[in-house]
Amino acid sequence: MSKLSYNHYSFFLYLFTLLSFGFCSPRPATSPRYTAEHTVHSLNSAHSLHGRDNPRHCQPFHTSFSDPSAVAESNADPSNSPFVALSPPETYAITENGLEMYLRRPKGEVHSANGMNDNLGEAATINSTFSMNSGKVTYEVSCDFVPGVVCAFILIDSVEASDGEMHLDEIDVELVGSGSARWQTNIFKPSNADPDPHYGHYDTKEQYPQNPSYTSLHNYSISWDSDKIVWGVDGQDTRTMRKEDTYINGVPHFPGETDSLRLQLGIWDGSGAEGTSSWADGPVNWDNAPQKIVATVRSVSVEC
Ligand SMILES: *[C@@H]1O[C@H](CO)[C@@H](O)[C@H](O)[C@H]1NC(C)=O
Ligand SMILES: *[C@@H]1O[C@H](CO)[C@@H](O)[C@H](O)[C@H]1NC(C)=O
Repeated sequence: MSKLSYNHYSFFLYLFTLLSFGFCSPRPATSPRYTAEHTVHSLNSAHSLHGRDNPRHCQPFHTSFSDPSAVAESNADPSNSPFVALSPPETYAITENGLEMYLRRPKGEVHSANGMNDNLGEAATINSTFSMNSGKVTYEVSCDFVPGVVCAFILIDSVEASDGEMHLDEIDVELVGSGSARWQTNIFKPSNADPDPHYGHYDTKEQYPQNPSYTSLHNYSISWDSDKIVWGVDGQDTRTMRKEDTYINGVPHFPGETDSLRLQLGIWDGSGAEGTSSWADGPVNWDNAPQKIVATVRSVSVEC
């Protein structure tokens, strides 16, 4: 059975596609030196959850994207910005609502066959320039509801795979076009011991305590340390996953255990592959869909 028949593709395959289209070349993370608007407290912050002897690293951070320097353009020097775009400047904007990320109707004709489109909309992907290996990230975001479209607010491995090991860890919050009344969580941690990403194995659909639609703003949080991940929404924990819950055939699939993770914000057209498209209820029907589909990032915070 091919991997195509699993529930869906992961964001990293999409990212790979994006990078191979040459929007920009990968860039190493830089140490953060931001303007006052992007508050970064000292590494020696008294609020550390892990105590002063713990080598895990995390820097408290907050931005409400009121300053355009929050996101460096893909071809600009990102060293003074907490975020860097992987996609072109027309895919996002800093507005009075915060950071808006766009998925636009593809240029040219779109043909649908076998549950997929042959032409995908250009869309935003934005990385943090900093990484962390424990802590709590909160994404205050909304996403337009359009079948076939995915908004993804994730943590993704920031280590390049130069040591022969696979480094494709992800901890995900995804707002998926199959329904706006639920939000989804997932993890990925393929390794040499078991390289299968196990699509669809760890994913869940979570509820909202109130205001049940991802089209309005909610605070989604991911807290993690070396042995557990807790997802929450609007201040309520909804899912706890411990390392011991991640074993398949004796192999643990616990992400972010050994590597730092980077924050990544994205909206994408899920119409390009059968598994992804059926997961997202695609392909996008551009006869009905808005010509510009929007994900709004009101704020991003990191607590340690
Ligand atoms: C964005 O993050 C991914 C995952 O860490 C990394 O592979 C890629 O090089 C990063 N790109 C930029 C432009 O920072
Ligand atoms: C998200 O959390 C912040 C900080 O507690 C709060 O000010 C904001 O109103 C929350 N946003 C939503 C949509 O609940």
